[in-house]
Amino acid sequence: MTTQHKIAIIGAGNVGAHCAYKIAQKELGSIVLLDVVEGIPQGKALDMMQAGAVEGFHANIHGTNDYKDIKDSEVVVITAGLARKPGMSRDDLVAKNSQIMDTVIDNVKKYAPNSIIIVVSNPLDVMTHRAWKKSGFPHKKVMGMAPILDAGRMQYQIAKMLNMSIKDVYAEVLGSHGDLMVPIPRFSTAKGKPITEMLTEEQINNIVEKTKQGGAEIVKHLKTGSAYYAPGSSAAKMVEAILKDAHQIMGVAAYLDGQYGLSDVFLGVPARIGRGGVEEIVEIDLDDKEIKLLHNAAEAVRNVCEKSM
Ligand code: NAI
Ligand code: 2OP
Repeated sequence: MTTQHKIAIIGAGNVGAHCAYKIAQKELGSIVLLDVVEGIPQGKALDMMQAGAVEGFHANIHGTNDYKDIKDSEVVVITAGLARKPGMSRDDLVAKNSQIMDTVIDNVKKYAPNSIIIVVSNPLDVMTHRAWKKSGFPHKKVMGMAPILDAGRMQYQIAKMLNMSIKDVYAEVLGSHGDLMVPIPRFSTAKGKPITEMLTEEQINNIVEKTKQGGAEIVKHLKTGSAYYAPGSSAAKMVEAILKDAHQIMGVAAYLDGQYGLSDVFLGVPARIGRGGVEEIVEIDLDDKEIKLLHNAAEAVRNVCEKSM
């Protein structure tokens, strides 16, 4: 008899709920959806399971306010925390979300000590570092979701500019999830061809800027919160790569231990993801300018980490 995988999603707000829904659709395992607000995870869980009748998937989603229910989860996705409002940077969230992260991590240590943690809460790179430090987990078992989302946003901009299908476009984005994001046009392709051979410098600068502002643009429209469809889907894709032991290369915020000349910092890089978590950091051949941008991002993340720990 095969046992079902168990996945916990902490925070049943916009991102957590969409992530749970995608995981349910993919039938990856039984899901525990937890929130501090009574009724929200329970109601959303029922709604999603009933959607299975229409969509044709079998879901087992348990909505709860009790951390005991996350016991023995194999993957824990942390989306608990405040989201940005217009005019706020991701770093404005650091104080409140650090407190929330500490409570969540205490419970993950207690109930799911062998899990792999995927952090979504902002500021992403800083919260991922905090989750790792507070958990005492091996760094391979803690990662942050953002580069996969940022690459998706760049893919969208490239596809729009070239009037192509987003499916035929690949984008590479490294760095921090914020203003110091490092999109790499040289390694971003449309139908396998680098976009640097297809677009002018001005067009590429436009794509890079719009990618960096992708999250803020959505916050400006929504006014009361931030993006959640692409973020929830991105986190679900990471869960899938882990549980299926896919050894799939994707952008994640991972702990750097000498790669790209950086250590003791979580930053967006391509990495091979499987049952062991971050199995390998992939070092693409960055030029001096790109390396400098990556180091600037690392310094900024370290500064916020030091101030907030
Ligand atoms: P949301 O406000 O819709 O949901 C957050 C949920 O967390 C709420 O339901 C709240 O009750 C819950 N919560 C608060 N404290 C908690 C605790 N101690 N334990 C359990 N649950 C708790 O916000 P949304 O849109 O889902 O965003 C969640 C976080 O993810 C935010 O910090 C946001 O900035 C971040 N985010 C990060 C992205 C990324 O690329 N890394 C993309 C989108 C959002
Ligand atoms: C986003 O990029 C706010 O980090 C969130 O949509």
